[in-house]
This record gives sequence, structure tokens and C-alpha cells, in this order.
Amino acid sequence: MTTERKRVFSGIQPSGEVHLGNYLGAVKNWVDLTDDYECIYCIVDLHAITIPYQVDELPERVFDVAVSLVASGLEPDRCILFVQSHVPEHVELQWLFNTVTPLGDLGRMTQFKDKSERVESVSAGLLNYPVLQAADILLYLAEYVPVGEDQRQHLELTREIARRWNGRFGEYFPEPDALIIGPGRRVLGLDGVAKMSKSQDNIIPLLATPDELASVIRTAVTDPARKRRDDPGNPHVCNIFSLHGAFSTTAEREEIEARCQTAEIGCVDCKLTLANNIAENLAPIRDRADELRAKPRLIREILSEGAGRARAIARPVMAEAYDRMGLRRVGSE
Ligand code: TRP
Repeated sequence: MTTERKRVFSGIQPSGEVHLGNYLGAVKNWVDLTDDYECIYCIVDLHAITIPYQVDELPERVFDVAVSLVASGLEPDRCILFVQSHVPEHVELQWLFNTVTPLGDLGRMTQFKDKSERVESVSAGLLNYPVLQAADILLYLAEYVPVGEDQRQHLELTREIARRWNGRFGEYFPEPDALIIGPGRRVLGLDGVAKMSKSQDNIIPLLATPDELASVIRTAVTDPARKRRDDPGNPHVCNIFSLHGAFSTTAEREEIEARCQTAEIGCVDCKLTLANNIAENLAPIRDRADELRAKPRLIREILSEGAGRARAIARPVMAEAYDRMGLRRVGSE
């Protein structure tokens, strides 16, 4: 049966500390998908170097993300987990795709426009970022790509690249569909306004200890109209209440909702309950991460085995792509 499962590919940037936005917005769903799909998940270090970064910190960032992913349930018997730069075919296919990608399309990508405003000098790598992303996906002939709403445009371009390539060199690459995660779920950060992200400095770390959770969540913005403890609150505009949605029981949420609206409970108590529930929910992941962190060799083995399995799929696809483009290699089958 395994061979009939549809293939899923997704990637995560090695931003170091995986946070609840990554977890609720992607990783949790990635784990669920392993039940029904053949899943390939990639830590995209080659994407991470398209903006300024600290060279000596990158290996650790990759390691930390790997620990968080495995601890969250992406075990090697459920999926292929690997690091992008360990499979050089990603770069090879990207080059081939560069030749069919319209320059104008790249310049129109919102993420490119956003990021290029924030860096001092805009590299060709930043512009070509979505071409590498297309190569990531199509190298495995993946049909589904679980991503957040913000990646929809990149996926549309991936489909366009597949279409153009197929149009020129013959029908080969599928046009992958986005699996938009949890009805376009966007997890907001501690500020309650921006998407939770490392660069916004508004994250709740996935592996925070119970104490850290309590102190981080204490600083979170709630209903901005609720200025004093006695003011009634509106849970439906409160980011803390929406996080309760992921970590607290229905009964608890109903009680909080009612008692916030009547000012029977204040934000401090509501936040404490949330911090406790997150701590309890995520305790198994945190424990597993502690164990894994103490076994760096095991993590390295998982990643290298994952790269081996990924390459076994990627190699023949790459050979076919070269062949169809008239780049037949001497000694290849
Ligand atoms: N650009 C994606 C992000 O920032 C990460 C990514 C790279 C990706 N390659 C991918 C996601 C391939 C899905 C499929 O979230």
C-alpha cells in the first residue's frame, strides 16, 4: 500500500528556535499527514543563506530545528527528514528551472519585495529563492505541499515553472497543490498583531520550560480595549484567548470566555492558565527534545539517513530532467 500513497513535500527554514507559530501552523500538521501520505520534510538551509546570517551559528540552528522536528513526532520511520544542502540535486534542478522562469514573475513575489526592503544589498539568491523552492518540491515529483497562506504565491509560481518546463521539454513534472494548513491559520505573536516570527521578536518557543512560558506569556498583548482589571474583555479580539483554542479544553475555554466578558477573571489569571496548559500539552515534546539534544550523533544519523533516502528519489528525477533537456550525461543509463 505504501507505494500508492501520494507524496507530500514541505520545507522549514532553520531559524533556530522553533516556536508555537511553526508548531501550530506547520509541524503539527506535518506529523498528522504522515498517517496518509509519503512525507518528505526538509530543513532548507540553502534558503536561509539568502539573507544576512551568522556563519558560525548556522550548524546549531539546523541542529536545533532537527531536534524540535523529531521531538514533535517526525520520526524517521514516519517520514523522510533531511537537510537541503545534503542533497545537491536541489541546486542542480534549480539551475535548470532558472532557464524557464520569467524574471518578471520573480520580481513580483511579495516575499521578495518585503525582504529586499529589509536588506542592504539584494542578492540574486534572494530573487531566485522561489526557483529553489520549486526545485525542492518538483525534485520529488511531490503532489501536495502543506504550507501557510503566505506561501501560496510561491506555490503558484512552482506550478507555473512546472507548466513551462513541461511545455518546452515534455510532460513530466506534476503541478503540485497547496494544502493550506488549518483554514489559513495564522498564529499571531506576543504583540497580538504580527504573525509569530523570530524576526519580529514576538515568539513563544516550542521548547520553553514552564517558567519561561509563564514569563513570556505574561508580556503578551490581550484585548487592547481592556485597560483595567475591572473592564469587561472581548475574548474574540484577544490573541491569548485564541491560543487557548489550541491548548485548553472546550469547557475551560467556555468558562474563560464567559468570565472574561464579565471581568470575573483578569488577564493575569487567563495567561497563567494558558501557560500551564501549554506546558502540560508540550511536556512530552520537551522531554523528548532534552533526550535528543544529548544525542547529537543520533540526530546526525537521522539526517544523513534521510538525505540518503531523499537522494534515492532525487537522482533518477534529475537524470530524466537532464536527459529531456538534451544534457545527456556520459556514462548515465
Ligand atoms: N519558503 C518556505 C517558508 O519560508 C520554506 C520552503 C522552502 C518550502 N522550500 C519549500 C516550503 C518547499 C514548502 C515547500 O516557509
